[in-house]
Amino acid sequence: MRTVPLGTSEKLFRSLHRKMLDTGYEAPPWDRLDSAPFALDAIASARRAWSARVEAEYRSMVVFSELLARFPEVGLPLEVSCATTRLIQDEARHTELCARVADALGGHGDVALDPSTLRLVRDDLSAKLFVARWTVSMFCVGEASSVGLLRELVAGATDPCVKVVVETLLRDETLHDRFGWALARLVIPLLNPDEIDWLGADLAFAFAHYDQTNGACLRGDDGVMPPEADAPVEANLGVIPRPRFAKAFYERIDNVILPGLAELGVPAYEAWALRHEARKV
Ligand SMILES: [Fe+2]
Ligand SMILES: [Fe+2]
Repeated sequence: MRTVPLGTSEKLFRSLHRKMLDTGYEAPPWDRLDSAPFALDAIASARRAWSARVEAEYRSMVVFSELLARFPEVGLPLEVSCATTRLIQDEARHTELCARVADALGGHGDVALDPSTLRLVRDDLSAKLFVARWTVSMFCVGEASSVGLLRELVAGATDPCVKVVVETLLRDETLHDRFGWALARLVIPLLNPDEIDWLGADLAFAFAHYDQTNGACLRGDDGVMPPEADAPVEANLGVIPRPRFAKAFYERIDNVILPGLAELGVPAYEAWALRHEARKV
């Protein structure tokens, strides 16, 4: 099984990596991460959640790296490429932090990397559409919703070490959210009407994915959430109840993602309405 590759014997890489990831960031108090007050099944479920985050954060790094590689073809300014290198470092930081929390709870190496997700470039897609597609799905939906989810984790954090970790993630993802909208403002206007239509259809698939993973499809088309979405959050190790998470996701969809994309000319409301159909394909 292939897993996220962490660790090297080459000193140069280790020292550069530490400098890039640690400078300007508070070190989590690892010796204060305390799972003793929690039941074994709560620890096991937190470990699984943090382990899954290792793979997700690593995948964000892969996506940003592939996006960066296509920027010259699109003609995006040098500043955009330079700023993207910062995001790649951030996702490396998140990968490592999540692995360290999972390790403190029992280990992180059980989530397999799907080799098909490590190469995104499609030869039949122009660089412009490739960049637009991943800007909209990964940033304007993915990063924009993760800010809402992380705010919930920060608000509900009870362990002092986990709190520093989720605050670090939120700090970085807040920048990534802003970055995504700035990138979209540069890229979307480059598209012609046919390309915008293609992007809208593609967005329906992205919405289907995020509705499933972030919202667990818990909100019906009547807009009603299950009552558990408002249940108080109990002591935790960085995992909160799914309905609460889902509520934060749908709030970001309603208040930020759909209006933000529509303002840029992307048929986002239509794509959101089509997500059920997209899920069946
Ligand atoms: Fe991240
Ligand atoms: Fe991010």
